[in-house]
Amino acid sequence: MAVMGQNLALNIARKGFPVAVFNRTAAKTQEFFETRVKGESIYPAYDLREFVFSLERPRKILLMVKAGEAVDEFLNALFPLLDEGDLVIDGGNSFFRDTDRRIAEAERRGLLYLGMGISGGEHGALHGPSLMPGGHREGYALVQDILEKAAAQVEDGPCCTYLGPGSCGHFVKMVHNGIEYAFMGAIAEVYDLLRKIFGLRAPEIARIFAHWNTLPHLNSYLVDITARVLAYEDPETKTPLVDLILDAAEQKGTGKWTSQVALDLGIPTPTITQSVVARSLSSFKNERLQIASRFSISQKTLPWSEEVPLFLSDALYLAELAAFSEGFHLLQEASRVFAYHLNLPEIARIWKGGCILKALLLGRIQSALTLHDAPLLFATEEFRSEVQEKLPALRKVCALSAEHGIPVPVLSAALAYLDAWRSEKLPANLIQAQRDYFGAHTYRRIDREGTFHTEWEVTAG
Ligand SMILES: NC(=O)c1ccc[n+]([C@@H]2O[C@H](COP(=O)([O-])OP(=O)(O)OC[C@H]3O[C@@H](n4cnc5c(N)ncnc54)[C@H](OP(=O)(O)O)[C@@H]3O)[C@@H](O)[C@H]2O)c1
Repeated sequence: MAVMGQNLALNIARKGFPVAVFNRTAAKTQEFFETRVKGESIYPAYDLREFVFSLERPRKILLMVKAGEAVDEFLNALFPLLDEGDLVIDGGNSFFRDTDRRIAEAERRGLLYLGMGISGGEHGALHGPSLMPGGHREGYALVQDILEKAAAQVEDGPCCTYLGPGSCGHFVKMVHNGIEYAFMGAIAEVYDLLRKIFGLRAPEIARIFAHWNTLPHLNSYLVDITARVLAYEDPETKTPLVDLILDAAEQKGTGKWTSQVALDLGIPTPTITQSVVARSLSSFKNERLQIASRFSISQKTLPWSEEVPLFLSDALYLAELAAFSEGFHLLQEASRVFAYHLNLPEIARIWKGGCILKALLLGRIQSALTLHDAPLLFATEEFRSEVQEKLPALRKVCALSAEHGIPVPVLSAALAYLDAWRSEKLPANLIQAQRDYFGAHTYRRIDREGTFHTEWEVTAG
């Protein structure tokens, strides 16, 4: 009965399904019931046993508790009260490996289990989120009608679909969050350039983002809320609230997990990873203040021109596309390695509504994934010529940032990512030679088959 649990209970009840609710701290259930329940079929329970026995069988229980140990603690209390065939859904941001472990435990007890990613924040939970369930298919069949009615609706169906077996629902949500980190990071960097290089104030930047949100390639939930945030004035101080917020980003782990798993699976996701790194670095606020005082930084502003928002918006768009490409590439590999059998176009489809990643671009991503079956979206027919045309803008933005000493790790990572994939030749030949020099790691040659080792000192000497 924290914010997500309350809103989902109201949403589901408003779709005509009676709901019983329970929270570890009973006072929160009571407060919810007294302040927010207005005639919906919601029944409070103040004891876990009472809650479980009030449910129709097979029971369908949705957990919205803090991810991590709390989920295990709660499951340890819940599982013994359940009967064979009952279903437990974990709707929190659980780490996918924990979900695999919990699924195995549920199976041992004859229970059904779904790990379900939920996107859309508290607003989505109440009005229609994007739901990413994975796990026991028979479990999904028990709640399909409820979930698909509670989810956001787009032109081609509800933003909810059974994604596959095991922990894939939580895996997909984790990658969703990784992409979200990268897009947010790129937006923040563009904002930083607008204020530092071009001397714009928050309300002026708000108008630029609001305009960008009307463009088909940038229209998205995140660009929209950025415009709203930048336009918001602190009622007390009458200054833009964003200017009063400490520049130290926090994180709960899903972006970091995405990068860690991508490294484990050998899939390059630099744009996502740099957004995690950028958040970590920002959190060293005191250290940054001390270090900044030791260096003189002259920040010159440049005159505004009509061209500025054009190349900045193109750069932002390419960073977004790079992040989606990295995310879908990772999903494709995870699907192979973990036998998730993911349907990538369906994932793009269920992100089109009720989701933090909601963007018009997702319609094109969905069709690119359907037509080309290639997760490296930027290289598909759908996007290739546009990428070619917009790359100079991203290059210009990164060069300008470098000249002005403004860090743009996410935009720079996106540029390097796109440039690296487009390179016929990379300097990895030299790396292979170095590896062979000090560790006899061997190398392959371009002019003949086989694996080779060289006694480099002897040859050189
Ligand atoms: N907030 C969002 O926008 C959002 C969006 C998508 C997904 N999620 C995920 O959804 C889940 C819920 O998020 P939230 O923001 O609503 O709440 P939260 O702050 O992550 O979790 C609070 C809830 O967890 C319960 N809890 C904590 N430790 C517990 C334990 N040991 N045993 C039983 N219950 C325990 C709390 O009960 P008490 O009241 O008794 O402390 C409370 O109901 C999280 O996994 C979160 O990552 C959140």
